[in-house]
Amino acid sequence: MSNHDQNAHRPVKRNEMSRRQFLSYTLGGATAFMAAGVALPMVRFAVDPILKKKSGSTLIKVVEESKVTNEPQEFKFKIHQIDGWYVSDPEQTAWIRKDEQGKYYALSPVCKHLGCTIGWNTEKNNEYVCPCHGAHYTIEGKALSVAPKPLDEYELEVKEGWIYLGPIKENTRV
Ligand code: FES
Repeated sequence: MSNHDQNAHRPVKRNEMSRRQFLSYTLGGATAFMAAGVALPMVRFAVDPILKKKSGSTLIKVVEESKVTNEPQEFKFKIHQIDGWYVSDPEQTAWIRKDEQGKYYALSPVCKHLGCTIGWNTEKNNEYVCPCHGAHYTIEGKALSVAPKPLDEYELEVKEGWIYLGPIKENTRV
């Protein structure tokens, strides 16, 4: 048998894509596309709130300027907070007064010893006093005993006759 006759019986080798390969590429691509369509919104849903800036840094309208006196007074207000998916409106307290120069400031009621709530003039000594372990603070929040640091202050702005409060900051007055 000649060489030419032997080759005549071999199957023809073709470089074309087989039907099986074509189907697996097509179905694989379509499946990956659909999976991405489902997975990407899920990933976005999971990550988006975490990446968003926490709110709560805006100023809150608390009290009319005319109601604030030289004597510290306790005012309550609510802050709208969004932390990831958790939305809350916790109530805050500030001790606000006008100093001798007519400047307003607002102190946090959180004792800098272990976090109890202080009160003004509860011992009739014109000081803030903490009922837990007896910390004393001056009218500007300077620590006199027990607590290691002065009371914190709120950011404060006066706009159109109203006092607005913002986030807590370190005491700038003592
Ligand atoms: S928590 Fe205020 S004195 Fe201890």
